Amino acid sequence: MIRSVVLGSGAAKPRTVVTNHDLEKKVDTSDEWIIQRTGIKQRYIAEPDETTADLGEAAAREALSDAGLTVDDIDMIILATSTPNNTFPATAVDIQERLGMSHGAAFDMQAVCSGFVFAVTTADTYIKAGQAKRILVIGAETFSRILDWEDRTTCVLFGDGAGAIVLGAEEGVGMSNDRGILTSHLRSNGSHKEKLYVDGGPSTTQTVGHLRMQGREVFKHAVAMITDVIEDAFAATGLTADDIDWFIPHQANRRIIDASAKKLKISPEKVVMTVEQHGNTSAASIPLAISVAKEDGRLKKGDLVLLEAMGGGFTWGAVLVRW
Ligand code: ACO
Repeated sequence: MIRSVVLGSGAAKPRTVVTNHDLEKKVDTSDEWIIQRTGIKQRYIAEPDETTADLGEAAAREALSDAGLTVDDIDMIILATSTPNNTFPATAVDIQERLGMSHGAAFDMQAVCSGFVFAVTTADTYIKAGQAKRILVIGAETFSRILDWEDRTTCVLFGDGAGAIVLGAEEGVGMSNDRGILTSHLRSNGSHKEKLYVDGGPSTTQTVGHLRMQGREVFKHAVAMITDVIEDAFAATGLTADDIDWFIPHQANRRIIDASAKKLKISPEKVVMTVEQHGNTSAASIPLAISVAKEDGRLKKGDLVLLEAMGGGFTWGAVLVRW
């Protein structure tokens, strides 16, 4: 059977680091409060001349180079983002043009913090259906642009950045020791849409709007939703928490990640945690964490990796992939 194998990865961060101490000067908060509630110590914030397309393009170039490929080898670009450069066209086509690619197709995907998991799953489906051989999957965000910098309950949580992977079709035997994506599970439930949303948009206010969140409500649902969908992934493959080499979750909050790992009995040394350096970068957080684990030598070919995310909508999902 056809498997979607990770051929390369890359990441890009804005130039400017903003620490919790920097935020103390702008809003009524403290380094201690932010670390204790979230684990975040710093985040990268895009300068006015740094856009989602800039970050996405840089991450895509690094992923292509890591894979030893050029855009001529790519059939499709899927960009997960909730902070596109423009309402339309899709920022993916902007990146397509910047990369010098005029063949194939490029489109954006919007599932907020779960965007990367949704995009990877979509790419896997195209590859398995034989409609594409190699797909560039990017998660890129400039959440700083939709934050209300007067609202201390949200502005301290998020950051900007991008990450990308290249997925390519390879022959597998259909067993769980195949390389590539072994299973993926997506969910959403719009009855939670008021708990995490942006209060503007082209068809309602004709503005971009600002992020609004009922933090406690999100927290309350997060661990149950995350662990549910991961258990579905284990059931579909016969794999267990013991088989996992690396758990690379969406990086929203250390407490959510710790509680999810604990409930799933995934040992703490298998958890890739980058929330303290990056904050919550929404759809970029998983591929940014992948690049950290790869650069420091943890993530190696053949490792079994569990990706997971949960975000606005609510949306949530999990992917099991052998690297
Ligand atoms: N600095 C200092 N004090 C603050 C801040 C801040 N930045 N923000 C809120 N407070 C205060 C509140 O005003 C409140 O004060 P009060 O008791 O005098 O009224 C107190 O801290 C407690 O506020 P809570 O909102 O109850 O704090 P909580 O312990 O729930 O922590 C947090 C808030 C961190 C947002 C938590 O609810 C959380 O992590 N929720 C999950 C949300 C999340 O991670 N969302 C990311 C997007 S979704 C996703 O990616 C999964």
